[in-house]
Amino acid sequence: MFEPGYTPLPLSRLSQAIRPPIIVDLMSRALANPDVLSLAAGFTDNEVLPRVMIRDIVAELTREGLPEEPLQYGQNRGREGLRALSCRALAGHPGEQASGLDPEKVFITNGSQQALYLAMQALCDPGDIVLVEEPSYFVCLELLKGLRLRPVGIPCDARGGILTEGLRERLRALDAAGERSRVKAIYLVSYFCNPSSHSLGAVAKAAVAGVLSEEGFCLPVIEDAAYRDLYFEAPHPAPSILSMEAFAAFPKLYLGTYTKPFATGLKVGFGYCTHPVWLEKMLCMKGHQDFGTSHFNQAIIERVLAQGFYAEHLAGVRAHYAAKATMLNEVLEKGGLQQSGWRWERPAGGLVIWLRGPAGMHLGMESDFCARCIAAGVLYVPGDLCFAEGVPKNCARLAFGSLPPDKLRVAAERFCAVAAEFSA
Ligand SMILES: Cc1ncc(COP(=O)(O)O)c(C=O)c1O
Repeated sequence: MFEPGYTPLPLSRLSQAIRPPIIVDLMSRALANPDVLSLAAGFTDNEVLPRVMIRDIVAELTREGLPEEPLQYGQNRGREGLRALSCRALAGHPGEQASGLDPEKVFITNGSQQALYLAMQALCDPGDIVLVEEPSYFVCLELLKGLRLRPVGIPCDARGGILTEGLRERLRALDAAGERSRVKAIYLVSYFCNPSSHSLGAVAKAAVAGVLSEEGFCLPVIEDAAYRDLYFEAPHPAPSILSMEAFAAFPKLYLGTYTKPFATGLKVGFGYCTHPVWLEKMLCMKGHQDFGTSHFNQAIIERVLAQGFYAEHLAGVRAHYAAKATMLNEVLEKGGLQQSGWRWERPAGGLVIWLRGPAGMHLGMESDFCARCIAAGVLYVPGDLCFAEGVPKNCARLAFGSLPPDKLRVAAERFCAVAAEFSA
């Protein structure tokens, strides 16, 4: 601990805007108290970590005389082999225009989180606006606020699908308020979204591009595909923004990651950027931050992809999470949530279930409901954190990634019991 009475330190305006990330708080609460079962933290399941595979690859990578010595620094932009393999993996998704994808546009990052930060830093000044879905990835909303940016919500339906006419109205309202020039990007979590688990279909995605073009907002588009590999039965058929004609004129950044689908602890992800100046600036900033993502971890992922282990591993992981999603869904159904007005959909991929409680119910961090859940030994993410304006308050995100099945069941039962108390 620090001694009391240390000298006051005048902090920058930027750091004064930065609050402790809620995600870190939720993760440490989950780690600190084993009796509280966390349906909040975004961990994956230890059960499906690729331990043996990584142990064997580490043995290979620590042999002497390897080209591109993995125990040395690598390139700022990332290993050439990993960039090429990431490009190939991206091209393998349904609907992608494989021949148009170029490894020179790929850069490797410390997870997609770092790419998001670099993207926003390169594009935005304090006070600028980023359009986000309602609900959106709450850690990104915090990141934006930490950079003193303003997330502005795009109206969505109850399932998380973008309402294109709502988007048009929002753009017109921003224009009428004299804010057009402050809108710097649109951020879409379009595959098995965290938190709504909704995926944006090709027609809906093209409609977003259509409205942006018609309203004269040719904005940088950031597509966060963190959960694209984590589908349960079938990959989502929509191509990414990179391969859609409707987005041809837009500067684009696509984000992928090897954390959630493979090993979060390696913390390796990538960006694919179609705009040379934007890409160059992000690389400069990355150079200033770390001059390259852990070369050793990149080399591990490169081997995994090159030797075909990734696809093999994913098959098992998908089945594992599909079973957990089904089980959580069943416990919620049996727990009587529907009868008391709660609504949700069984996800087709990803790691979360998005619940909408009865209208008027307050599930926020400061609510009695949240306090009661903690007392009953279960944590969830209050859904208001996922909305730019912090409303509505009646939603919750339940993650089924980390808890083993028996504990997942108990956690969900505890949640249902609290919900029952509040609907009595
Ligand atoms: C939607 C979304 N994007 C990005 C990230 C960042 O993930 P990582 O930095 O581990 O790739 C997460 C992590 O939870 C996420 O849910």
